[in-house]
Amino acid sequence: MPIPAPLALYIHWPFCLSKCPYCDFNSHVSASVDHARWRAALRRELRHYADQTQGRPLTSIFFGGGTPSLMEAATVAALIEDAGQFWPTTPDIEITLEANPTSVEAQKFIDFRAAGVNRVSLGIQSLRAADLAFLGRQHNVAEARTAITLARTHFPRFSFDLIYARPGQTLEMWDAELGEALSEGPSHLSLYQLTIEQGTAFAAKGVPAAEENLAADLYEATDARMQAAGLPAYEISNYARPGHESRHNLTYWHYGDYIGIGPGAHGRLTLGGTKHASGAHRSPTHWLEEVEKTGCGAPAPDPLDPDTVRREALMMGLRLTDGISNDHWQALTGQSLPDSLSSPTLTRLIEGGFLAQTPQTLKATPQGRLCLNGVLAKLLDIF
Ligand SMILES: C[S@@+](CC[C@H](N)C(=O)[O-])C[C@H]1O[C@@H](n2cnc3c(N)ncnc32)[C@H](O)[C@@H]1O
Ligand code: SF4
Repeated sequence: MPIPAPLALYIHWPFCLSKCPYCDFNSHVSASVDHARWRAALRRELRHYADQTQGRPLTSIFFGGGTPSLMEAATVAALIEDAGQFWPTTPDIEITLEANPTSVEAQKFIDFRAAGVNRVSLGIQSLRAADLAFLGRQHNVAEARTAITLARTHFPRFSFDLIYARPGQTLEMWDAELGEALSEGPSHLSLYQLTIEQGTAFAAKGVPAAEENLAADLYEATDARMQAAGLPAYEISNYARPGHESRHNLTYWHYGDYIGIGPGAHGRLTLGGTKHASGAHRSPTHWLEEVEKTGCGAPAPDPLDPDTVRREALMMGLRLTDGISNDHWQALTGQSLPDSLSSPTLTRLIEGGFLAQTPQTLKATPQGRLCLNGVLAKLLDIF
């Protein structure tokens, strides 16, 4: 009998205390949240997907947002418990919760740990007071540091996020801040360059993104500093001590199967041998009403055609430093990498120094990772 394919679970909590001016995630500020109603709806949607995926081993759960540290710990506990009853869980299951570092939320860490969370990902964003204010954050530097200490104390694994390439930030300023972040002893960091997303307050105000050359210099300096600190990049924006990579996010980048529950959550599920895409209603109210009516807040999943599967697998896999292995590609698409991709476009991208190919792998070079969107735009045209 073939071993059932593993599965990851993403749970979206859409509420935040305030809307950060750079953020285009599906996050909403609500005067009041009926926690009992939301708990019931998330549990109901979880059951809906469990019915379709019985027997598959669950390797990770990720509570993302929005701000899932605003969830009641009882909701987190109920969902983890349900998941453990619906699926066999792997012994090393990773259960991450994204937490904002305000003191109120940090006080809940003990309860989240008791609920079964074994990894937190903290939205620190900056260790500079003026920049936290600029980014519209609800926490200050002291709260950020306390939250890191509490995360280290209560959880076997933790990570934190920083946003760099902020207006006015020089290489020297970022290097000093990154050094302070590293002195906190994390084994995983997510370091994102500030992106000005359409429809955000920053876009409306005309906040500029870092100039291209500075952005490239900042990226290269970050890579070098993290490599020297023993946390090399394993993905475009993610750095870890070997063995401390986010297993949940690796499922996305390896184009594995995952269920997404909650408003706006996406999923990719192989059903009857075909990869399907699901995407839940983004509006929290609409999603809630749909789940209460039908048990699921998403339209029926769409089957993906083979070219879409190849495109998505490339977009995900080339984000990884190790790229895509031929064996993995073969398992996903039924073809070898050379058979799928051989083309004048691929040759040009290799000769231009953007991609590197061996008989076993295809990966983006450091130069290619700097402009991965452009590289992908060209490569995806093959299909
Ligand atoms: C789901 S979001 C936010 C999680 C959590 N609510 C928080 O604010 O910390 C995950 C991460 O994406 C990053 N991020 C979001 N919008 C960004 C943007 N416009 N530019 C760069 N990084 C961004 C932030 O570092 C953030 O922690
Ligand atoms: S960055 Fe985080 S806290 Fe801020 S609005 Fe987005 S999801 Fe909410």
